[in-house]
Amino acid sequence: MSRPLLTVVLAAGKGTRMRSDLPKVLHAVAGRSMLGHVLALAEAVGGDALAVVVGPGMDAVAKEVGRVAPKAAVFVQEAQLGTADAVLAAREAIQANKGDIVVLYADTPLIEAATVKTLVGELDRGANVAVLGFEARDPGSYGRLLTEADGTLTAIREAKDASPAELAVRLCNSGVMAFRLDDPLAVLGAIDNKNAKGEFYLTDAVEIARARGGRAAVVVCSEDEVLGVNSRAELSQAEAIWQRRARARLMAEGVTLIAPETVWLSYDTVVGRDTLIEPNVFFAPGVTVGEGAEILANCHFAGARIGPGVRIGPFARLRPGADLGRNVHVGNFVEVKNVTLGEGAKANHLSYLGDGSVGARANIGAGTIFCNYDGFFKHKTEIGEGAFVGSNTSLVAPVKIGRGAYIGSGSIITKDVAADALALERGSQDERPGWALKFRTMMARRKAAQGK
Ligand code: UD1
Ligand code: CA
Repeated sequence: MSRPLLTVVLAAGKGTRMRSDLPKVLHAVAGRSMLGHVLALAEAVGGDALAVVVGPGMDAVAKEVGRVAPKAAVFVQEAQLGTADAVLAAREAIQANKGDIVVLYADTPLIEAATVKTLVGELDRGANVAVLGFEARDPGSYGRLLTEADGTLTAIREAKDASPAELAVRLCNSGVMAFRLDDPLAVLGAIDNKNAKGEFYLTDAVEIARARGGRAAVVVCSEDEVLGVNSRAELSQAEAIWQRRARARLMAEGVTLIAPETVWLSYDTVVGRDTLIEPNVFFAPGVTVGEGAEILANCHFAGARIGPGVRIGPFARLRPGADLGRNVHVGNFVEVKNVTLGEGAKANHLSYLGDGSVGARANIGAGTIFCNYDGFFKHKTEIGEGAFVGSNTSLVAPVKIGRGAYIGSGSIITKDVAADALALERGSQDERPGWALKFRTMMARRKAAQGK
């Protein structure tokens, strides 16, 4: 029988080892704050209520909670007296929810929803406390999970309080715990700080619950999943683990990555099946790719939609608002920002397309620039369906090119062009027959005269 579930996310740590002006939990993995990942995890686990515990003055952290999980309640832990004290900062939420509690850490961003569901599932199987553990390569300062021969969890011993025999245990506490207690506040309130660190240890809840006749259980996951981030080096490890997983997931979904270790994804990247991604492609947040697209090497994308069958790159850049319709071609050294390209439109070489629209099947020649900015305001360039913009054209916005119009190469277009017209803006060509031959003959004679 499942009961209402409250998730408590601990985010009070300052993370001084990050050496940063930014609170630790706001540092990003895959383009999203670690806190954001954990809040999304809480959502995926599907609890009924969410409480986040922050430190005093952590307004930026509270703001991120408001942005990512607006329904979450934020509590301030005034002094960092330990993990049990941190959970008690959310006392009101615990009182209001009257159900199960799961505790997550905002600096541990890689845990999968399925793992937390398994942990909470232990409560349904009769456990009063369920702890997420892992076999540590180097148990170091982790709390040790002390078990009986049958696997029953008897206690969690913090490294600083452990005997040599206890220190030899490799099964460690990830910190993530779930509780089904008749009176959780009584159990948490019974925790004292008589230990090596002088802290109120949440881990003591195991022994207290057992003394009250409760049962404790362990769920074991991989060490990678519970990596906690305390330094920039650990942040990069978390990123590497996240990326490895996300690449594997994409490939499993039918996307070809020629060199997966060189493709960088964001937390929200979506790629359709049978899309091919060549090496060295970076997806910043907000990018969607349709099916059967071809992304050639060395591209950077942010906030863009790439339609099905698009061919883009090598060396293309899409910035926010780039929207490439079906079968669009965007080639090397082309930058697109806030421009919609209709089905089959092409911009194959060396262009800047900023603010506007390009109609279906229009062709943008090499070296075309949308001159969108006058130093004060941004203006739009609108190009009609099937228009042909010759190479090296500057389109000075605001400007509209009608459907099917031609723009001669090298033009600087400052006025609207009607549909099916030719617009040309350049000096007329002056040709002098035989001039080059006469010039060469004269110069050669002059050089010979000086020669000796
Ligand atoms: C804790 C566990 C340990 C486990 C380890 C996993 C306890 C007593 N120990 O130890 O068994 O192996 O995590 O990493 O729980 N926090 C607060 N307020 C506080 C104290 C901590 O919000 O007053 C937050 C921290 O920001 C951090 C988390 O709780 O995100 C863990 O706290 P930390 O002090 O790092 O605990 P550990 O000593 O690592
Ligand atoms: Ca820690």
